[in-house]
Amino acid sequence: MSKSRISDPKALPLETTLPSAWYLDSQIFELEKKHIFFREWVCVGREEELQLPGDHRVLDVCGESIILLRNTGGVLRAFYNVCRHRGSRLCETDGAPGPVLKGGVINRKVIRCPYHSWTYDLDGQLTRAPHLSRAEGFPVEDVQLYPVGVETWGGFIFISLSPADAPDFSTEMAVVDSYLERYPLEELRIGHTIEYEIDANWKVLCENYNECYHCGPVHPELCQVVPAFRERGGADLDWERGIPHREGATTFTLSGETSRRSFPGLNDDERVMHKGYLVYPNLFLSLSRDHVAVFILKATSAGHTSLTCHFLFEQCELDKAD
Ligand code: FES
Repeated sequence: MSKSRISDPKALPLETTLPSAWYLDSQIFELEKKHIFFREWVCVGREEELQLPGDHRVLDVCGESIILLRNTGGVLRAFYNVCRHRGSRLCETDGAPGPVLKGGVINRKVIRCPYHSWTYDLDGQLTRAPHLSRAEGFPVEDVQLYPVGVETWGGFIFISLSPADAPDFSTEMAVVDSYLERYPLEELRIGHTIEYEIDANWKVLCENYNECYHCGPVHPELCQVVPAFRERGGADLDWERGIPHREGATTFTLSGETSRRSFPGLNDDERVMHKGYLVYPNLFLSLSRDHVAVFILKATSAGHTSLTCHFLFEQCELDKAD
């Protein structure tokens, strides 16, 4: 809405939006990378995607290549995908073009650089540099890969590209912890995944997730199950307690019902209501009594965002034939 149509926007119970350039300008996106995505705890996936010692993934986080792995003790670790010798990539990204060199995670036990074969253990410690040793004046034990911070919460993996400057993770998660304490997020498993490529700035998706003003016109099927989403433009929703479904509905399905059991331990409200939460800056949670839909954003440029949507269920429900 143009300012010329509103004499004093502050007189209205509305917030003015950010300047349009903040959604389009690559220089603004570079600032967001520096101050948000390179510093905060960013969700990159689920723990179940790396189950065994030696399992690893190569992530692109705002243009930085990151190795995420389970070490030989089963602990999650992450490192910049850069050799400490002359900066070669250690692990190729899946589907990367070019010749396949003998490097990367070898035998699930070590990371070997394809360039001159420096070899690191799965804690990032250099263990071997051909033709170089302490006897030859090179302190192998003093060299480690550059670390990336790793934390887990509710079965989700979060990383920080600047672990020394990152905010305290448990403090960051304390509010969401208390809000969702009865949902067994850590025990849930992925039943289905959808990947989206979206030509929009990541903040548009966050803002959209944080308001229900659009639900009436945009989501008629959803409002059939949750009429409260279209009442008064979503102004009276009590997210603290949960959002009621229509009479006779208890979950986010087209019918409003399911044969799946409710998560054990939910309170009376949570067994019939819906909850949602945005874990800043890139994890959206949509919680029903029997399943949780999660949306993990990956901001790739000012005008593009990749989104991974997982539907999480109890393993006992995934094991059923239907
Ligand atoms: Fe990795 Fe030389 S750049 S061993």
